[in-house]
Amino acid sequence: MESPRRLLIVDDEYGIRLSLRGILEDEGHEVFEAGDAETALSFLEKESVDLVFLDIWLPGMDGLAALEIMRATRPSMPVLMISGHGTIETAVNAVKKGAHDFIEKPLSLEKVVLAVERALEFQALKQENTELRARLDMRDIGGPMGTSPVMVQLREQISRVAPLDTCVLITGENGTGKELAARALHHAGRRSGKAMVAVNCAAIPDELIESELFGHEKGAFTGADGPRAGKFELAHQGTLFLDEIGDMSLKTQAKILRILQEKSFERVGGSKTLRADVRVIAATNKNLEAAMASGEFREDLYYRLRVFPLHVPPLRERGDDVFLLADYFTASLAEELGLAPVSFAADASGALRSYLWPGNVRELRNFIERMLILYPGRTITFADLPPEITTGAAPAVEHTATGAAGDFKSARNAFEAAFLAQKLQEYGGNISRMAEAVGLERSYLSRKLKTYNLHGG
Ligand SMILES: Nc1ncnc2c1ncn2[C@@H]1O[C@H](COP(=O)(O)OP(=O)(O)OP(=O)(O)O)[C@@H](O)[C@H]1O
Ligand SMILES: [Mg+2]
Repeated sequence: MESPRRLLIVDDEYGIRLSLRGILEDEGHEVFEAGDAETALSFLEKESVDLVFLDIWLPGMDGLAALEIMRATRPSMPVLMISGHGTIETAVNAVKKGAHDFIEKPLSLEKVVLAVERALEFQALKQENTELRARLDMRDIGGPMGTSPVMVQLREQISRVAPLDTCVLITGENGTGKELAARALHHAGRRSGKAMVAVNCAAIPDELIESELFGHEKGAFTGADGPRAGKFELAHQGTLFLDEIGDMSLKTQAKILRILQEKSFERVGGSKTLRADVRVIAATNKNLEAAMASGEFREDLYYRLRVFPLHVPPLRERGDDVFLLADYFTASLAEELGLAPVSFAADASGALRSYLWPGNVRELRNFIERMLILYPGRTITFADLPPEITTGAAPAVEHTATGAAGDFKSARNAFEAAFLAQKLQEYGGNISRMAEAVGLERSYLSRKLKTYNLHGG
């Protein structure tokens, strides 16, 4: 049998609600009721349900008008119209407008159960389809997303918002993968067959931004010796990726805002009005709230861009994903560079897990590339690691025990290495003070430090 679902009945007739509720509850579903469209819509603003039964004739707003709003606000929620004698034609119309199906009064047990089953099955298939497509496209964009909770959540958000034309604002530190997230959004969306055009807002001088974005006609300014299409035109029916949006001048911000509001523009020096059918994705590593507070970023533009905010978390918050990414880069870069892959000993793995990776995924990628060049085909130990990774980090000790792969002994070694590195840093390399603080004999501690190639100062 189906797993229990949340269903909403919208009908002004008490008798219909009562009999429907009876049937649905017997099937194990959780049932909510509304006597009119307004009540139903305000309920749906706060709660989500898996299926709606919607009567066509209702006091106040009618079923068709309510359907339209539900389609707009909850596009994936199936709606079953309830139709009486005089409203079959309307019901057929409703299906054309996006209702999943309709059932005719009088409602029989069989009719209702079958209709619910079909609607939910259809819904599940559609969901599965979207997820599958999103997952496939993730692979296409070149790299694993990760399995840490923060990344699973990010992936979920991406597949949820990708099929819509909603404007997305991606935030995150340097090198976390903001551009990658933008590409994933584009590829999992309806516009994937069209272009994704990227504009680096920080790199374009003010006086050129207009012609860069909108294009220009021949002779529009000195140097414009031929007509040229701008980024908005090139991205028509596709996606426009506005990167480094936090680095735009106020003047440029005003221009961008105008086009986002009006959805039309003219080429510089041109008179024809062109329409911009683009989905906008913006990204920044700046704190836009702070920039707004100091008057460096327009509030109206901020709210227009941030319809759906996506945050790409720093690598240090992604737990074991660091290993997943390290493996991925090891394999892909080894092949690209024609070098034998490297592997990491447990103590080295522990350090990779503890290191804070201020440059995030990009830094990890560059680090792996360096290791491949220096130690092709080798197992890299703690001693081989560059100093910024072994000592420049404040290791997150509580994480390292789970961070090391494999057997107990390697896990313990990894933990010890990370713990000692952190303490060594904390006590500025003073082994006597450190020994006292951690409760070890100084000579024993010295030997330990030597094992892990850690040096006091
Ligand atoms: N999940 C991932 N899988 C594989 N590679 C990744 C992943 N995330 C990021 N990268 C790689 O890391 C590098 C940085 O990613 P990207 O350019 O998307 O980051 P960014 O946040 O836009 O950086 P910046 O702030 O510098 O603009 C790229 O080489 C990208 O391919
Ligand atoms: Mg970027």
